[in-house]
Amino acid sequence: MAIKGKKIYLEEGFSNKQYSALLKWFNDIEIMKYIFFGKDVLTFKSIKRVKSFCQKVKDAKYFGIYSNKSKKLIGYAVIHDFKNKQCQLGIIIGDKTCWGEGIGYETTKLMAKYSFDKLGLEKICLRVSEYNKRAIRLYKKLGFNLIKKIPEDREAYHNNKWVKSAALRMELRKKSM
Ligand SMILES: CC(C)(COP(=O)(O)OP(=O)(O)OC[C@H]1O[C@@H](n2cnc3c(N)ncnc32)[C@H](O)[C@@H]1OP(=O)(O)O)[C@@H](O)C(=O)NCCC(=O)NCCS
Repeated sequence: MAIKGKKIYLEEGFSNKQYSALLKWFNDIEIMKYIFFGKDVLTFKSIKRVKSFCQKVKDAKYFGIYSNKSKKLIGYAVIHDFKNKQCQLGIIIGDKTCWGEGIGYETTKLMAKYSFDKLGLEKICLRVSEYNKRAIRLYKKLGFNLIKKIPEDREAYHNNKWVKSAALRMELRKKSM
């Protein structure tokens, strides 16, 4: 069953075709530069490796993000680690030509609505690199609050070099949407 939005729709699950798109995105430093696991997946060479990496995430529900216009897969979103009516959220728009068009915003909003209305959750949590200004802006716009700053949370490829990056822990409550 698809979750429908204005610019995109979300469909749960991946087949081999989608995993091969994931492999391409995982190998792209521009996409992965601020992601927690970015440095690791840049070395991935096979679909098998991507699959086993994805399967390791605890209780994950993966959704492909598809353009309404082209019907093409342009990214993915994942919710995982469900406990105490909360979960963690991750999102990657792999098609860079789609950046800055409000698709990250729409995807996050649809994922939050699905988590609150269909799964009965109360809170969505995430961690984002302090350097990922575009992502931080969209989370703030949606109503995510900054909970704390975690120093030296990860390595990020910032200004053309790998550096230590703090992460912002942010949360969206059902009642603030
Ligand atoms: C981060 C990401 C999900 C954002 O999705 P997107 O579709 O490009 O973002 P949107 O268009 O919905 O919104 C981005 C907002 O940031 C703003 N923005 C863009 N570049 C920016 C920058 N360098 N600094 C500050 N704000 C910026 C945009 O203007 C927009 O704000 P606005 O709606 O007020 O104009 C997407 O770019 C992506 O997948 N990047 C690679 C993976 C990643 O970093 N994922 C997030 C992990 S936490």
